[in-house]
Amino acid sequence: MNAPPDAACDPGDAFALVSTLIGSRQTVLPRRLVEPGPTPDQFEALLALAAAAPDHGLLTPWRFIVVPVAQRHRLAEVFAMALSDRDPGATTVQMAQAREKAHRAPLLMLAVACLGPRQPDTPMLERLVSMGAAIQNLLLGAHAMGFGAGLTSGQAMGSPRLHALFALGDGEVPVCCVNIGTATRGSQRKALRPVPAQFVSTLSDDSMPAR
Ligand SMILES: Cc1cc2nc3c(=O)[nH]c(=O)nc-3n(C[C@H](O)[C@H](O)[C@H](O)COP(=O)(O)O)c2cc1C
Repeated sequence: MNAPPDAACDPGDAFALVSTLIGSRQTVLPRRLVEPGPTPDQFEALLALAAAAPDHGLLTPWRFIVVPVAQRHRLAEVFAMALSDRDPGATTVQMAQAREKAHRAPLLMLAVACLGPRQPDTPMLERLVSMGAAIQNLLLGAHAMGFGAGLTSGQAMGSPRLHALFALGDGEVPVCCVNIGTATRGSQRKALRPVPAQFVSTLSDDSMPAR
């Protein structure tokens, strides 16, 4: 096996480490995340991993907005009002449940895609690929540090109230929340992984157009 450049360990060990890390990562939902979250140093290290994402044109076409505990009530209100906008008949229990989502994970960040005009004008899909890689780097880094982590989205992402709370600019699109903390005990079903035959094919002379 060829050595990855700058690898700190034997290439076989590096692959085993990475495949164990990636293969054992799973979503931990915010209701199962408790204190402690990452320390400031750990948080900095996680952000450095996000910054290592592939990024065509070096645009950094994504950013993260931390919602500290002192500001969670504002996000909670946006979640509740976004629900009431969608469903004016929402009950007080449903409104309380919507609010509660803002208060769960020790570290909560909004992931924002920056899709407005930039130079070079890297296509939107490529920017989203970069954002996905940055988020995966964060999730894997958090997992490697022993934290639980998961993404949450939902219809509030499309609410103008959320846009206003975070003062998002033109072309900035909130995509999901990144939640990180200490996972409580308890079983959580592991997601089924697709097998390669489901997502890999080989171009051949008689390849048929996709359905
Ligand atoms: C952009 C994005 C948003 C997500 N939002 C939610 C969500 O709102 N609620 C949820 O339970 N899971 C959410 N997930 C997590 C997926 O459900 C989860 O990744 C999937 O079930 C596979 O499980 P795994 O992460 O354990 O492999 C989201 C994932 C992505 C990529």
